[in-house]
Amino acid sequence: MKNYMNIRIETSSDYAAVERLTFAAFETMNLPGRTHTSEHFLVSLLRSDPWFIPELDFVAEVSGEIVGSIFYSHSKIVRPEGGETGTITFGPVSVAPKLHGRGIGSALIRHSLERARQMYLRAVLIMGHPGYYPRFGFTGAANFGITLADGAGHDAFMALELVPGTLTAAGGRWQCAKAFDICENNTEAFEAYHRRFLSNFP
Ligand SMILES: CC(C)(COP(=O)(O)OP(=O)(O)OC[C@H]1O[C@@H](n2cnc3c(N)ncnc32)[C@H](O)[C@@H]1OP(=O)(O)O)[C@@H](O)C(=O)NCCC(=O)NCCS
Repeated sequence: MKNYMNIRIETSSDYAAVERLTFAAFETMNLPGRTHTSEHFLVSLLRSDPWFIPELDFVAEVSGEIVGSIFYSHSKIVRPEGGETGTITFGPVSVAPKLHGRGIGSALIRHSLERARQMYLRAVLIMGHPGYYPRFGFTGAANFGITLADGAGHDAFMALELVPGTLTAAGGRWQCAKAFDICENNTEAFEAYHRRFLSNFP
């Protein structure tokens, strides 16, 4: 697969294909309590979020078809006594369902983490499958005393230091791009977006 897969930066002409890919990938997700797929909406919001990182907005192509994508945004950890540590967060990560398990997701994650290191970014916080991300070096964010924004912990909340020691004394609450909150809580905006999305679906 890697022999003929190309990873490159997303361009505006990819937007529709990437949103369709994101929807298709996340429609395969079957988690308890999950009521609908909204990650394609999140992607559309992230691109115009002030915390979005365009240099880490990658797509994977096979034979000219977009088969994978990954988005990054800035995030931070806010300490209870004051002070904060800058971090980055990736997601959504999407791979075309027909090509799951062929190494595309891993290639996108490794490629983008390497680029993030070259950009001197220091640590990554994500919500993701606890069975998948440890292979890239992720460990529970709780090990660093980092919690979600509401102070709670979660198995799916994971951290990776790109620069060793970055998170050693960084314990506090995670704050991520506003796009995540809008995606989760603005039902009206989601429904308007999703109606448009479905009407353009081939
Ligand atoms: C998760 C996803 C990005 C992985 O990409 P991929 O190209 O299919 O994965 P890779 O081929 O690089 O890696 C395959 C490995 O990931 C594991 N994996 C895939 N999805 C997993 C999941 N939900 N939980 C745990 N492990 C998972 C596979 O079991 C396989 O493990 P193995 O190497 O030990 O056999 C892709 O399956 C996808 O788009 N899923 C739907 C959307 C999604 O869940 N996105 C991530 C949200 S955190």
